[in-house]
Amino acid sequence: MAIALNQNFTPTVESQENDGLRKPKAVPILGSLPFIRKDPLNFFASTAAACGGATELSFGFEKVLMLTDPAYIRHVSVENAKNYRKSKFYGPLKPLLGEGILLAEGDEWLSQRQTAGKAFQGPELKRFVTTMGDAAAPMIARWHRKAARGEPVDVTSEMFRLTLDIVLRCLFSVEVNERYPDVYDALTEILRDTEKRIWAIASPPRWMPTPGNARYNAALRTLDRFVLDIVEDRRASGQRPNDFLQILIDAYGDESSDKFNPRLLRDQALSMVLAGHDTTANVLSWVLFELSKNPVIARQLKDEVDTVLEGRRPAFEDLSKLPFIKMVFDETARLYPPAWTLSRTAVGDDQVGNHQIKSGDNIMLCAYAVHRKPSLWRNPEGFDPYRFAEANKSHQQYAYFPFGLGARTCLGARFALMESIVIIAMIFQSFRLELVPGQVIRPEPMLTLRPNGPINMALSGA
Ligand code: HEM
Repeated sequence: MAIALNQNFTPTVESQENDGLRKPKAVPILGSLPFIRKDPLNFFASTAAACGGATELSFGFEKVLMLTDPAYIRHVSVENAKNYRKSKFYGPLKPLLGEGILLAEGDEWLSQRQTAGKAFQGPELKRFVTTMGDAAAPMIARWHRKAARGEPVDVTSEMFRLTLDIVLRCLFSVEVNERYPDVYDALTEILRDTEKRIWAIASPPRWMPTPGNARYNAALRTLDRFVLDIVEDRRASGQRPNDFLQILIDAYGDESSDKFNPRLLRDQALSMVLAGHDTTANVLSWVLFELSKNPVIARQLKDEVDTVLEGRRPAFEDLSKLPFIKMVFDETARLYPPAWTLSRTAVGDDQVGNHQIKSGDNIMLCAYAVHRKPSLWRNPEGFDPYRFAEANKSHQQYAYFPFGLGARTCLGARFALMESIVIIAMIFQSFRLELVPGQVIRPEPMLTLRPNGPINMALSGA
């Protein structure tokens, strides 16, 4: 039972080119694609280790400049961020996200960022912690029943359902399991279909009447309907809770206002649903996986939970008293950053180090590779939460970016951390988790960095 990374794979670095870049092995026409497709994560990590702070990758006819030097990363994400936009590689997400915050640019993005930011302020954060506990409690009760029957749980699908439930409860004040049962399946269908397109050499265009496209379009219609329904239900209820949905309805839902824009309301709602659950679910799955492999660390985490909470559900005030959970979260997000790569396109010419960037060039900031780069991290492949203890932190600022960088950094980072602490604490209050033998678990670089399949865990009383 191990992460099946091929530690021996080292791309052959070709001779220095005129532009001063060292480059990984490539073949005519396909470039490095055959090597990338064989083992993408290992390819990017070992290329980062072997090729200095900047290297050019060739994905067939597409060239991508991969930057792994923290100074270069700071340059494109902060110092000259206005020269870079989200790249066309995010295009397959367009039918789901439309003009929502994840893909928006310029003034439209800024306006959405300011509007959405209001949902994460002040007293709402405190309320969220209670709601997060309320959402996790039925899962814990269900796990108790499974444990009593000796049944394992697939923690990956459990975390996806739970984080979706939490984002809908906290930001939209609805529960998926009652009136809106199909949302999880529709999102899963869309994400899996989109992911297939990322690594496929060719995919049928969306207009082609294939069974896959039919399923995809039906799933999109389910999500469109979901947004219409929750807006109608909110209006019919006459209530105005202080949540993200109400902010959207007030901003874009008034037919008499010149800002009336139901499409943008839909795009923003679904962008937040996607941003707010898939990433967190992945980190949590990897946390549980790593803790099951590291019983000494799991024991320390459990001791912290028991000492601080004394059997209570975590409250907002408890979260800062659980620093070891945060260290485990940070280390897991280092080894398994859900947004494993950030992709940008230059809109004008620029220069990083000695390298000239031309307008239209593609830039890759690969968190997975930077977080494991031997020149930036001691024991980069090891799972060591202690490196994130306040007294030990020594990594460079732009060598660690699970929540992104600069102005476009994650809007829900605090939400995600609070949610993760609540869920991890509640699980470890009740259970010990052991991997069911015989599974080969490895990360897959899809839209997010997710496990290659279920992670089945046997549960026993804590
Ligand atoms: C561990 C969990 C999470 C991780 C690792 C994560 C990571 C990220 C990253 C890397 C970005 C920047 C993407 C880019 O620059 O291309 C981002 C953006 C964003 N995230 Fe998260 N995220 C997490 C959880 C959440 C949650 C829970 C929410 C909301 C409830 C959220 C909402 C957003 C939003 C709205 C943006 C877009 C920000 C903008 O473009 O201005 N995220 N996230």
